[in-house]
Amino acid sequence: MVASEPRGWPAAIFATAVAAVAATLLSLSFEMNRARIAENRQARLAARLDDVLGDLEYDNDIATAHRQVVAPELLGSGDPADIYVAKRDGTVAAVVLSAVAPNGYNGPIELLVGIDNSGHITGVRVTYHRETPGLGDAIEADRSDWIQGFDAASLVQPSADQWRVTKDGGQFDTITGATVTPRAVTEAVRKALVFFRDNQVSLLDPEPNGTTLDAQ
Ligand SMILES: Cc1cc2nc3c(=O)[nH]c(=O)nc-3n(C[C@H](O)[C@H](O)[C@H](O)COP(=O)(O)O)c2cc1C
Repeated sequence: MVASEPRGWPAAIFATAVAAVAATLLSLSFEMNRARIAENRQARLAARLDDVLGDLEYDNDIATAHRQVVAPELLGSGDPADIYVAKRDGTVAAVVLSAVAPNGYNGPIELLVGIDNSGHITGVRVTYHRETPGLGDAIEADRSDWIQGFDAASLVQPSADQWRVTKDGGQFDTITGATVTPRAVTEAVRKALVFFRDNQVSLLDPEPNGTTLDAQ
């Protein structure tokens, strides 16, 4: 004969089991969501990096080939800056530097600057800014082709005195009624090229030691 359970036990066990299953399902779905969000973020980053790299051919997963450096003077921020590496046949074909123009009209402007292994810009894109709609926001690739004015530029071409907006006597277009923003971006892109020049041995090393670059 089976000993009788106290009344209420089966219900309590059932409720506990349901709660445990629900908690497991919830945490499983949370984990799956988190993984999906991370995957989407990686995919968006990869697409953005591909955009910055223009026609450059590479054969690695650039969004995961990632180093960091702290270079406030040349990359515009005291926080670690991301460096993405595009490789072709095991050699570094280009790097994409995250850089900040600290002196935008409404605050810092965040950029991705693609530079091929010969020191030429493959592309520049703005990833974050708070510039004024209809004025400074023409730096966005979706709003105007102004940002494409950097394509193929290097520290040699244009020459040092031309690395300015036209209003300051340089080569890069000014945006009508909004000189502060393009001036800030132009200087940030030039400094990213200087960073590349000063650190190119380390940047072009296909198998660097560790994920942190000690800037020169
Ligand atoms: C409300 C307001 C918002 C502005 N936003 C910007 C901006 O986002 N970027 C910018 O360069 N200039 C902006 N300006 C204009 C600057 O104050 C400045 O006049 C301009 O950058 C100088 O360009 P210019 O020499 O071509 O006139 C703004 C001005 C006002 C009044």
